[in-house]
Amino acid sequence: MIASRFTSDQPSAQNSRPLCHCLRVSETAVRECVADGELACVRDVTKACGAGGGCMACHRHLKRIIAEHHAARTANAAQGAELATL
Ligand code: FES
Repeated sequence: MIASRFTSDQPSAQNSRPLCHCLRVSETAVRECVADGELACVRDVTKACGAGGGCMACHRHLKRIIAEHHAARTANAAQGAELATL
C-alpha cells in the first residue's frame, strides 16, 4: 500500500472530508503531504500519498491545493523580504 499514513482511516485525517475517493485520501492528508514534501505536481502527490492514482477526477483539486500551498509560501517569503528591508 502506498504511504498508508496518509489514508483516511488515520486519526489526523478523520475529520477531513475525502478528496480522493478512489484511494480514500482526505484533503487534510493531501495538504500535509504537499507541505511536508514540497510537492510540485499531481504525480508527486500520487507518489507520496496515493491521491490521484485512480480515476483522475480529483486531479483538479490536487492542483488547486498545490497552487494554494505555493502561493502561500510565495506570499510568506515576500512578506519576510519586505520586513527585512524595514
Ligand atoms: S477520486 Fe482521486 S483518483 Fe479517483
